[in-house]
Amino acid sequence: MTGVPPAELFGGEHAPVLRNAAIDSLAIRADGCYVDATFGRGGHAGEILGRLGEEGKLIGIDRDPEAAAAAAVLFDADPRARFVRARFSELGQHAPHASADGILFDLGVSSPQLDEARRGFSFLRDGPLDMRMDPDSGASAAEFLAHADEREIAGVIVRLGEERHAKRIARALVASRESGPIDTTGKLAGIVAAAVPGREPGRHPATRTFQALRIHVNDELGEIERALPQAVDALKPRGRLVVISFHSLEDRIVKRFMRSGSREDPAWAGLPEVPAAARPRLKLVGRATFADEAEVARNPRARSAVMRVAEKLSE
Ligand SMILES: C[S@@+](CC[C@H](N)C(=O)[O-])C[C@H]1O[C@@H](n2cnc3c(N)ncnc32)[C@H](O)[C@@H]1O
Repeated sequence: MTGVPPAELFGGEHAPVLRNAAIDSLAIRADGCYVDATFGRGGHAGEILGRLGEEGKLIGIDRDPEAAAAAAVLFDADPRARFVRARFSELGQHAPHASADGILFDLGVSSPQLDEARRGFSFLRDGPLDMRMDPDSGASAAEFLAHADEREIAGVIVRLGEERHAKRIARALVASRESGPIDTTGKLAGIVAAAVPGREPGRHPATRTFQALRIHVNDELGEIERALPQAVDALKPRGRLVVISFHSLEDRIVKRFMRSGSREDPAWAGLPEVPAAARPRLKLVGRATFADEAEVARNPRARSAVMRVAEKLSE
C-alpha cells in the first residue's frame, strides 16, 4: 500500500532528514494514530505508514499544493491515511483532543520548494519572487517588498535573517523599487549583493536576506508558536511530540516550549497541592539530536537540523 512518491512529478525529491531517529522517537504502535504536520514529499510519512498495521491511522498536513499532489499518490486511496491541505497552526481542527499517539514536525521548506525556480525561494535560480509555501494565500515576497516601508524591511531582515547589514540592504531595496518592481529572485539577489560590503567565504551575500523574507512571508515562527500547544492538546497521554528545526530561531521556540511544558509552574513550587493546570504536561525524551557526519555528507541540508522530543504526561 505504501510506495515511493513519484518525486519527479512534483518538483523533485526531498531527502527526509533524521528519518530513522524521528521515526524511532515517535515510538510507533501498529494500531496507533499519527500526524505528520509537514508532509512535504512524504519521506517521513511513507516510513510511518510502513510501520502501521491495518488498524493504524496517519493524517498528513501540508499547506503546499504540490505536497497535496504527492500525498494523493503516496496514500493512493489507502484507508489508513488522510491528507489535509492546511496550515499546521490549524492542527487542532484536524486532530481532535487526545486523539494522536505521535505528531511530527519537520520544519522549514522542502528541497523541491527551494530547487524549483518558479517557487521563487532561491537566489541560485532566477524566478518570480514569490516564496509562499501556499501560493494561494497571503502576500508574496515581491508584494511585501513593493509595499513595506524601509524600517519594516530592515526590521524583518535583521530579526529573521540576523543580518548585520540589514539597514543598508533595506535602503538599497527601497531605492531600487523607485525604478521598477523587485519581482525576481535574481534581481533581489543582485541588489543585496551590491549593497553588502565584503564577502563571507562560502556564503552568498543574499543568504540571510532570503531566509528572512521566507520566514516573514510564511509567518513561520508564528505558525510554530500557534501549533505546538495544539499538538500537545491533540496527543494522548504518553503520545510523542517530535520536532526537527533547521535554524536557531525555530529551535529556540521549540526548546523553550518543551522546557517550560516539562516544568511545574514556579508559582506553585514547594506547595503540597498543585492544581492540574500548573503541573507539567510534558516529559523531555533524551537530549537534542543532530544528524551524524554520514548523513550530512549525503544531504548537506541536514547540517543545521536539530531534533527535540517530548512525551505528553497524563491529562
Ligand atoms: C522540510 S519539509 C518536510 C519534508 C517531509 N518530512 C518529507 O520527508 O518529505 C517541510 C514541509 O512543511 C510544509 N510547511 C511548513 N510550514 C508549514 C505550515 N505552517 N503549515 C503547513 N505546512 C507547512 C512545507 O510546505 C514543506 O512541504
